[in-house]
Amino acid sequence: MYFVANWKMYGNLSSLNTLDKVIRFSKSKEIKGGRLIYCPPNTLISSFAKKFNNCQIGIGGQNCHESKDYGAHTGHVNSRMLKNIGAHFVIIGHSENRKQGESDKLINLKIKSALEAKLKVIFCIGETLSEKRKKKTRSILSKQIKIGLKNIKNKSNIFIAYEPVWAIGSGIIPKSYDLFKTIEFIKSKFRDKLPKVLYGGSVNPENITNLKKINNIDGFLIGGASQSAKKFIDIVKKTY
Ligand code: G3P
Repeated sequence: MYFVANWKMYGNLSSLNTLDKVIRFSKSKEIKGGRLIYCPPNTLISSFAKKFNNCQIGIGGQNCHESKDYGAHTGHVNSRMLKNIGAHFVIIGHSENRKQGESDKLINLKIKSALEAKLKVIFCIGETLSEKRKKKTRSILSKQIKIGLKNIKNKSNIFIAYEPVWAIGSGIIPKSYDLFKTIEFIKSKFRDKLPKVLYGGSVNPENITNLKKINNIDGFLIGGASQSAKKFIDIVKKTY
């Protein structure tokens, strides 16, 4: 099982101290089969990489520019730059960026550039509340997958993160059966090798006991709760 911590726009250098607990946990027997990945803001990737030097915790960025080359793109970094400072993963297509105008087509270019830079991609998809109410969840997910992964033959380095927009930061999670069926639907879109599918949206140490029973989920993308080492560790412990 994968446990990905998405810190979003939180954290500074003093946050590094909170990682000691997680590093100890990652080296203990309690980690069982858990794979931990931290996606801090870009300002902290390098420091996290140094901190995780002697352990198995992965590091990722939260987004990247679509160009593989340097260029005049103020405020952006590309996948090669992320790779260069120690990232192995990158989140692409998060709804918080889609909301800012990131299209499926742009997401497709970003994924291609990240794969070229040899990063593993955590590709986020998910419907909004109004799309859910209009019963459009499946058509939205199909479109996001179809365009987002267009012309990408080798999908072995792509994880899908299903994050219903209405579940993010709301404390609400989908009903277990609905979530099972949606994950099943997402996996059905892949003919050859099934991708790992993570669930994201309000995962916390309380609701993990229900979420873990959904047996087609391969891991979790965790926002708010992952900023607390204790809660993040609790989530992993309660999954096993
Ligand atoms: O990418 C993680 C995410 O969007 C979920 O955030 O705070 O609801 O766990 P949160």
